[in-house]
Amino acid sequence: MELSKGRVIPTKTKKKVKKVAKKVSKKQSDVEYFEYKGIKVKRRPLEESTQYLIPKKRFFILENDYVEEIMWAIQQQQEEGDPWNILLVGEPGTGKSELINYLCAELNIPLMCIQGDGEQSIADLVGCIAFNEEKGGTVWQDGKIPFALRNHCSLLLDEMNGILPDVLMKTHSMLDDRRQLDLKEHILEIEVEGRVVEVPEVVSVPNETLVFGTMNPHDTGRHVGTKPLSPALESRFHMKIQVNYLSAPNEEKMIVTETGVTKDIAQKIVTVANESRNAFRNQEMSTPIDHRMTKAWAKLSLKFGLERSIQSTILSRLDEADFDALRGVLLSYGISKPV
Ligand SMILES: Nc1ncnc2c1ncn2[C@@H]1O[C@H](COP(=O)(O)OP(=O)(O)OP(=O)(O)O)[C@@H](O)[C@H]1O
Ligand SMILES: [Mg+2]
Repeated sequence: MELSKGRVIPTKTKKKVKKVAKKVSKKQSDVEYFEYKGIKVKRRPLEESTQYLIPKKRFFILENDYVEEIMWAIQQQQEEGDPWNILLVGEPGTGKSELINYLCAELNIPLMCIQGDGEQSIADLVGCIAFNEEKGGTVWQDGKIPFALRNHCSLLLDEMNGILPDVLMKTHSMLDDRRQLDLKEHILEIEVEGRVVEVPEVVSVPNETLVFGTMNPHDTGRHVGTKPLSPALESRFHMKIQVNYLSAPNEEKMIVTETGVTKDIAQKIVTVANESRNAFRNQEMSTPIDHRMTKAWAKLSLKFGLERSIQSTILSRLDEADFDALRGVLLSYGISKPV
């Protein structure tokens, strides 16, 4: 027992009071942050209705030179409502999509991903009028973009230069200062001065909705089905960021962590991959070895060894000239050309 302000409080009760006080103070400072190089971005509070749209956390190494700029842009938009549309450009398998997924996973941002293939129609993206059996008539059905906007999600237009230009044009008004998606196909009936007037719906882009785009460079001519973005669309992305392959130490770390091979094996794999990327830059090779391929080679090597597993994961994709560009480094590891 102790004496406090003339009252006797049993020690047990006092402990309880202390505990509650601690809990409350934690609640008050409950805002969580994700910090990168001194830039702190608030994690969004989780909402039950959109939690399933937050990407799953996966292993990822933040290395791109522009991560600070991206973090700052997200911070500005989340806190000041100042929109930043961000475009990432790079060769396949350099980590563009995973970078966006990683940041959204860390920051609890629900993300609607639209895969850029030539099949995406205006109806898929914006919506359409569909027959509803229950109602015995037609109803408006939201496409992916209005669904995302109404639910305060962010958007990833992945490999967006695979989408037909006419379809992409529908996004112009939501990416510029208007920040509105025009749903001219969806007619609403509203009452104006006692009269019913028909107006096409316009959906506003919520302040916190970020728009990310990714694409492979179209100028190399290697990426079938991709077109350049129109200058009008490209200029609506406030940042255009080049994404390159990871540095050798980080790619080795990624391979060791993700596959469980030894550091020595990872080093050999990365040496071969970097040789191919240099050869590709010097136009001596048509297919650079990307991060997906290095991971696959490493995984298979656990079962079949380095020499055998390169055959199906890498060499089967290369032509004679490609192999010639890698001959020196491969032979030094005892790897010969496939039959
Ligand atoms: N920084 C990184 N840290 C960890 N893993 C990475 C990193 N960058 C790429 N990877 C791995 O490389 C693979 C390819 O990444 P991703 O799918 O993001 O490439 P991409 O650039 O979007 O390719 P594409 O242009 O073909 O869509 C993934 O398995 C990913 O986990
Ligand atoms: Mg991708």
